[in-house]
Amino acid sequence: NLPSEVMLKEVGPRDGLQNESRVVSTEDKVELVNRLTAAGFRHIEVTSFVHPKWIPALADADAVLAAIDRKPGVSYSALVPNERGLERAFRAKVDAVNVFMSASESHNQKNINKSIAETYPVLRPVVEGAKAAGLPVRGYVSTVFGCPYEGHVPISQVLEVSERLLDMGVDELSLGDTIGVAVPTQVTEVVEALAKRVPLSKIALHFHDTRGTAIANIMAGMAAGVTIFDASIGGLGGCPYAPGASGNVATDDVLYLLDKMGITTGIDREKVDETAAWLEGVLGKELPSHARAVNRGQ
Ligand code: HMG
Ligand code: MG
Repeated sequence: NLPSEVMLKEVGPRDGLQNESRVVSTEDKVELVNRLTAAGFRHIEVTSFVHPKWIPALADADAVLAAIDRKPGVSYSALVPNERGLERAFRAKVDAVNVFMSASESHNQKNINKSIAETYPVLRPVVEGAKAAGLPVRGYVSTVFGCPYEGHVPISQVLEVSERLLDMGVDELSLGDTIGVAVPTQVTEVVEALAKRVPLSKIALHFHDTRGTAIANIMAGMAAGVTIFDASIGGLGGCPYAPGASGNVATDDVLYLLDKMGITTGIDREKVDETAAWLEGVLGKELPSHARAVNRGQ
């Protein structure tokens, strides 16, 4: 029982580039976003308004958003950690705000320098401020399927954090497999548990392919009724915890799967491949997607 249509949200310019050791110029970031727009994506996470000392690779967030060509109907979003970030995001005219926190205490602490309990009062005014300005808000929950410091993460913690974010008013939850440990049975279990409390239309899945399970997890997610998935072009980003391992699932590989199964995305796979090839030139290295390996070999 698979969906006939899926919404793919491109996170490469943010989740991909934040993890690349080579810093990409503002001009190339702008070209990347423009190429993704031309390929037909309707949701592009462009950058991040976190503290530039924490993520230096995206310190030019304002400049990138000011320079991209915006196509009507396309949502250009950014990560926002707090009110300071929201002010910057407003000035840069984002179309949507993405807040984030973790389901596990130690990852939350290491990532945003606060306990889970301390994070709610920081995020609430961000969500409320964005909603008051008429912007949709996505809430990322990280370490849903496992934590690099704590290992197993109980579903009860995922439900607790998810519900608190929904109570604040987030429009969509993106459940993150931050370190790429999830397996399909776990995806089914988490989605079924959450679907008892939230409509499936508000749930997105965000897989990393560190252990090669991301495509299988997307299949499980679709079978459980999820129709929104995050992916990063070419598998851009890698994984900061495991050098050489894949990061976000590659958009081009997900598109191959969906196209071949007749599931509509509205995205032009050839343009995505061309963009991934161009990006390899920019980065001076091969990207890890299967699609790139095949196309390079031709
Ligand atoms: P902090 O140091 O605790 O911040 O960092 P603070 O509130 O104590 O403020 C300290 C100083 O930073 C102040 O300046 C603030 O103004 C300034 P001072 O008054 O001392 O001169 N500051 C800022 N400046 C610019 N922009 C801001 C900002 N905020 C404060 N937004 C903070 C807390 C959250 C800011 C920091 O920990 C941070 O930026 N963390 C970002 C971590 C990050 O980006 N991680 C990666 C993204 S999450 C992810 O990838 C997972 C995901 O993909 C899903 C998945 O895969 O699971 C989404
Ligand atoms: Mg991620």
